[in-house]
Amino acid sequence: MFKPSRRVSAIDLSGIRKMFELITEDTINLGLGEPDFDTPPHIVEAAKNSMDEGFTHYTVNKGIIELRDAISNKLITENRIKTDPESIIVTVGASEALYMCCQALVESGDEVLIPDPGFVSYHACVKLAEAKPVPIKLGEDYDFRMTAEAVNENISPNTKAIILNSPANPTGSVMKKRDVRGIAELADDHGFYIISDEIYEKIIYQGQHYSFGEFSDNVITINGFSKTYAMTGFRIAYTAAKTDITEEMLKIHQYNTACASSISQIAALEALNGPQESVKHMVSEFKKRRDLIVGRLRDMGIKCVKPAGAFYVFPYVGDADIYVKKALENGVVVVPGHSFGENSKEHVRMSYATSYENIEEAMDRLEQIEY
Ligand SMILES: Cc1ncc(COP(=O)(O)O)c(C=O)c1O
Repeated sequence: MFKPSRRVSAIDLSGIRKMFELITEDTINLGLGEPDFDTPPHIVEAAKNSMDEGFTHYTVNKGIIELRDAISNKLITENRIKTDPESIIVTVGASEALYMCCQALVESGDEVLIPDPGFVSYHACVKLAEAKPVPIKLGEDYDFRMTAEAVNENISPNTKAIILNSPANPTGSVMKKRDVRGIAELADDHGFYIISDEIYEKIIYQGQHYSFGEFSDNVITINGFSKTYAMTGFRIAYTAAKTDITEEMLKIHQYNTACASSISQIAALEALNGPQESVKHMVSEFKKRRDLIVGRLRDMGIKCVKPAGAFYVFPYVGDADIYVKKALENGVVVVPGHSFGENSKEHVRMSYATSYENIEEAMDRLEQIEY
């Protein structure tokens, strides 16, 4: 009988994927983690042109210099991060970036602080690197925001890194500047690394985004194109870190993927250099949908924090498994909170990356649930 490695046996496939298997034609899917908008045409055009011009071969491992230049300029001007093109690795999505960071930074005996609730990959990537995930409980009291105090309480002599995510999946919380600065100071004082997943940076309705890299050098910044430019299928993102960290991460990247797709790199370059109207349009649409979904859920008597960013709400529903089952019986897919951590058994995640009309219909259906 096949015996998988202990590393792989220790993790499960994401609960979100399992939900998709239950979808029928009439189901409204509020489980999706990707924008429902089309990739802007100028980006698609750039990708097509790159193929026509024969740009269909390997690139250098870190990614084409034009793209790394554009990324480094963005990080310097928009995020106030001290960086340069040599400190950037272009990756196959933020997913690869997270895996690469964990493999390069942590090992057995190390602890990695992760948000709970938090994106599904954090726990799995830490486990695959044979380190110990230490969940930090986030609750409604601070609108699910990570705070410097909560981090401080969970630091131990074995803390090697923390993974942070603002705006956050699954709660949409956006961290305050004082907490970003405070956690950066804690990382410097205690000598641990910050892995900052900033993939929802541009999808923000209230407050402002701050990068940890502005306040500390011990930061690996992860950002990408999937969410901001509706480019999930292009599989393209990047890391920025000090050169010594970057050179170690590059080993994982090289042996895992060699390089990101050449075509996607050209598309990403166009995304950064081209017009940004599509981003503004998408965010203003998301905001309308957020107001609709939060309003409707509250009208049903469901406790729901109004998220400041991303495109998810994380309402309190009591027993999430019962609620998920009833929602499905009424033709709506929502994701149980425990997919995002042990602490979240009484919540569900609903994505509003689907049309206004779909959300209205989904809320009409959920209104029928008695619980
Ligand atoms: C918080 C977070 N990080 C990373 C990812 C992965 O993004 P990518 O498509 O760039 O691999 C996702 C996707 O849902 C996410 O929600």
